[in-house]
Amino acid sequence: MGVDWLQRAVPQAQGLHPYVPGKPVEQLLREKGVAEAIKLASNENPYGPSPRAIEALRHAVAEVHRYPDGNATSLKRKLAEHHHVSEVEIVVGNGSNEVIELLIRAFAGPGDAVVYSARGFIVYALAAQAAGAHGVAVPEADGLSHDLDAMAGAVDEATKVVCIANPNNPTGTMHAPAAIQRFLDRLPREVVVILDEAYYEFVAEALGDSWRRLNHPGLVITRTFSKAYGLAGCRVGYALCPAGIAEVVNRFREPFNVNLPAMAAASAALDDHEWVMARVARCREQRARLERALSAWGVLGGHSHGNFVLLRHGESQQILHALEAQGIIPRPLAPYGMRDYLRISVGTEAENDRLLQALEAILAKDGQR
Ligand SMILES: Cc1ncc(COP(=O)(O)O)c(C=O)c1O
Repeated sequence: MGVDWLQRAVPQAQGLHPYVPGKPVEQLLREKGVAEAIKLASNENPYGPSPRAIEALRHAVAEVHRYPDGNATSLKRKLAEHHHVSEVEIVVGNGSNEVIELLIRAFAGPGDAVVYSARGFIVYALAAQAAGAHGVAVPEADGLSHDLDAMAGAVDEATKVVCIANPNNPTGTMHAPAAIQRFLDRLPREVVVILDEAYYEFVAEALGDSWRRLNHPGLVITRTFSKAYGLAGCRVGYALCPAGIAEVVNRFREPFNVNLPAMAAASAALDDHEWVMARVARCREQRARLERALSAWGVLGGHSHGNFVLLRHGESQQILHALEAQGIIPRPLAPYGMRDYLRISVGTEAENDRLLQALEAILAKDGQR
């Protein structure tokens, strides 16, 4: 008899399910026998990173026999200038995902609660469970948008961390800064509030300088180089937070959590902000185009503020399989209890042409159009 390793693991391992990422292109090619495929499943930037970031990566490759700077000094300095904060108010991580996990692990354990929206980014629930904390999933009143009143009402003495994604993935919903501030005003001072702004660049004018604009002693804003900056494969994210919170989180961080090429690429990408924002503008135009088409076909699942759109259809699984058969990979949202929905990342103009053509034919066949 082999050892039952799940029984040997910490108790919270029982209820944990690994994160299900978007299907990789290679897997679809194998499964469907198609010659090529486009991945619209992980909200990446289809245009890729700034050429300056690619150049920095090339240079960094020659240095990979060295450990990276464990303090991420030069990236933090750049970020500090960019955000007009002190370097001690920044934590960098292997994607913002790691930063979120570290924050939850540092502040919530068995007997503590972590409050988040039921259809909020799924990593909050996974990280809370992994930390042995109690995850409190607050239902959305309209099925999509964080119910901030209900979330504030769910906070009690056991609550150590509250997570909000603004805009949220996968629902694409967003709250205005005034609504977020009203929510923050209702929370106890000693609660850590993770305001996840992974899609910030797509709504920068609407949110403004959230770090300066919003007020709460436990406010932590997380951002990433994975979306607008086009560096998802490098894995770099960061938090802006009070120095005291950064100091605690750094105790949990592994010594070299962001690798050397990734840091070089992120620094260079930050220098080319204009290039990034030009791609963001194109992505937003393309998102509007996709949403117009989905709306005309009666399958728009709601307006998205991120670099993705929502399709809603009773036969979403058939649509998923039909798209995959044509080499197009959307993201099913069953893990969020959204069985009728597919989340589709905004691709390049050519990728979106192909998506719309395929979708039109599939819906016409289905008798929808
Ligand atoms: C809302 C949200 N937060 C955080 C992340 C994590 O991104 P990363 O770890 O690549 O920075 C994602 C990625 O999809 C996301 O959608």
